[in-house]
Amino acid sequence: EKGGYPHFMLKEIHEQPKALRDTMTGRLYPEREEVRLDDIKITKEELENFKKIFIVACGTAYHAGVVGKYVIEKLARIPVEVDLASEFRYREPMVDKDTLVIIISQSGETADTLAALRESKKLGARVLAITNVVGSSVSREADDVLYTWAGPEIAVASTKAYSTQLVALNLIALHFAKLLGTISCEEFAEIALALKKLPDQAKVILDSEGEIKKMAEEYAQREHIFYIGRGLDYAVALEGALKLKEISYIHAEAYAAGELKHGTLALVTEGVPVISLVTQEHLYEKTLSNIKEVKARGAAVIALANEGNKDIAKSADHVMYIPKTHPMLTPVLAVIPLQLFAYYAAVARGCDVDKPRNLAKSVTVE
Ligand code: M6R
Repeated sequence: EKGGYPHFMLKEIHEQPKALRDTMTGRLYPEREEVRLDDIKITKEELENFKKIFIVACGTAYHAGVVGKYVIEKLARIPVEVDLASEFRYREPMVDKDTLVIIISQSGETADTLAALRESKKLGARVLAITNVVGSSVSREADDVLYTWAGPEIAVASTKAYSTQLVALNLIALHFAKLLGTISCEEFAEIALALKKLPDQAKVILDSEGEIKKMAEEYAQREHIFYIGRGLDYAVALEGALKLKEISYIHAEAYAAGELKHGTLALVTEGVPVISLVTQEHLYEKTLSNIKEVKARGAAVIALANEGNKDIAKSADHVMYIPKTHPMLTPVLAVIPLQLFAYYAAVARGCDVDKPRNLAKSVTVE
């Protein structure tokens, strides 16, 4: 059942090229400049009337939402707020009939997420769900549904659900942008073609997992590991840190790189590993200066950079490279080395990777 892999998590990490492809099948046609999302029935007029979008989810799905905010705002120019379902539901959220609520849930059964969905509907909002499970509570109760088609995810640590949620959010952003006329033909084509290349590019990363395994083993006995990045890199840093703490029990924290000076830098001492994401070229110089700051305090820097960036090797102890893609899509690739890093660190520590202590796959009670 594990298809020859020692754990479901590793199997599911390796299923990502197929899962990413399946999320796009029958939906994205770069040559026709078309996105077909048949289960999303929101019309142009309805979309124009939304004053705001809320993305609401828990855990990894929330981290996908952080990426979603960025891509939807960028392409469709509608303000997006991302919230944790457990916060949103008790906050008297400012939601009404002019709000679109996007609910993200792999299982479609998470108690807080479902409660947030119900609260949104009660307040009159339109609810669009991104989920992986056909017939799940979330899929039944939402007004519109976009399935991720990632296939069953068994390991407690979410991997292919996250990367396919990112693709789903990009499809939604392209669809909305097209309806609203906020995207040029060139930009649409560029992103659509880049999306289509992601499955093969994910495979390239998986083919070099031996290098990541070595790095993970080198740092597996550390007590603390920090993740830093800016923009979309920060969003992925959040997910990378969650993966590591969840399965390896190493204390991991993600920080927006610009926040280091506002407190966290005090924790960076000799030998502390700092995984530094630098895939966002427009933010490269800024994050690089943060890398130099942590390096000056003795940190061991593991950079995660775009292929071709040789400069970063001068400031880092190790570099993980991802193939070149559109800047908005780097999270889909960047998360893969971080999943592998967490996996191999957990294995090196002898942890029960598929069933981490205290955690359940589906959190159906609060
Ligand atoms: O099924 P859901 O997407 O609603 O689950 C949400 C979280 O419980 C889930 O993503 C959790 O954070 C994962 N264990 C993280 O790997």
